[in-house]
Amino acid sequence: MSELTNISLARGAPSIDIVAVDELRAAADRAFERDPSGTFSYGTSAGYPRLLEWIAAKHGVEPDRTIATNGSMQADAFLFEALVEPGDLVVVEAPTYDRTLLGLRRLGAEILAIPLEADGIDVEELARALEAGARPKLAHIIPNFQNPAGCTLSGEKRERLLDLAREFGFTVFEDDPYVELRFEGPHHPTMLSLDGGEGVVYASSFSKTVSPGIRVGYLVGSADLIARIRAIATGTYISPSMVSQSIVAEFCHSGAIERSIATVKRALRERRDATCAALERHLPEARFVPPQGGYFLWVDLPEGSDVEQVEAAARERSVTFVKGTDFLLDGGDSSLRLAYSAVPPDQIEEGVARIADAYRELAGARAVAEPGRRA
Ligand SMILES: Cc1ncc(COP(=O)(O)O)c(C=O)c1O
Repeated sequence: MSELTNISLARGAPSIDIVAVDELRAAADRAFERDPSGTFSYGTSAGYPRLLEWIAAKHGVEPDRTIATNGSMQADAFLFEALVEPGDLVVVEAPTYDRTLLGLRRLGAEILAIPLEADGIDVEELARALEAGARPKLAHIIPNFQNPAGCTLSGEKRERLLDLAREFGFTVFEDDPYVELRFEGPHHPTMLSLDGGEGVVYASSFSKTVSPGIRVGYLVGSADLIARIRAIATGTYISPSMVSQSIVAEFCHSGAIERSIATVKRALRERRDATCAALERHLPEARFVPPQGGYFLWVDLPEGSDVEQVEAAARERSVTFVKGTDFLLDGGDSSLRLAYSAVPPDQIEEGVARIADAYRELAGARAVAEPGRRA
């Protein structure tokens, strides 16, 4: 096959053209000037104080309820270490972020996977499992523009989930790195703000709004839980990167973050639209719900499609995506996740056309092997 440009619809990361490199350089200059000692010392495991102040003000809590980490993945790992023991039951969404599944499995957690609907986790199915005796310690929820499904948890479901958490005594882990990236539709309050108390631990990140390479994320929770997590963090790395956090603090306090979010949202909206249009044009047999924000779109191919084969055939055509099976304990065999975050619209069109070509070649082969079946 001739040399084709590689198109990656696999990675949930922004392309470099929408990272605010110049504003980050300026923020770094100011941060180094303002506080060289705090920026270049170890610091404490809580994180850089000026960043914690900004996070605390954003969420209306005291800074002792926050910890800033090297990316929110690190925050998730600390939280799981603090709360999850082998054999503990943890609720996850189906499908969910593959690294969450891996982290929980590594700790020996039992997983209760509850299906997603267009408006988020099926809370009534969760209620039935709880009434039948399930006793989770934690429920991991990605409320906005879910990774990988792209859906958003409705306001009513947020309330219902909090009621269930209070009634059955589990903690809600609200994993929310995409919240700022809404293109349309009403914003819903965080479950952290609705709960106000001890029932929710909230995580977010600057990876999706500023840059993943800066590696800054954070948790907000009860002061007790955060104190325990700060102790785990001290034992792990003394402190996170003060240089990164000092730059992000300056970026946030100066208002540059608002401009960065606006740039990312504008580009992602265009990319989302290009993905939907390309799917309608090249792969009309696919089913998907356009996400109202974020990085991802979940695609269901017709039943009987084998996504592993489609992925291999797409790879031969130099286009990549992540198979639905990677995000589920069971199923996902005919589904895939497209991350449109890093690809300009014209390449999205080309990438989807190549996936459609891969799909059609396999569907054609199936129709020959099984003459009763329509391609
Ligand atoms: C739901 C979710 N949580 C956590 C992360 C980790 O993000 P980071 O460690 O870059 O902050 C991601 C990244 O894709 C994600 O989608």
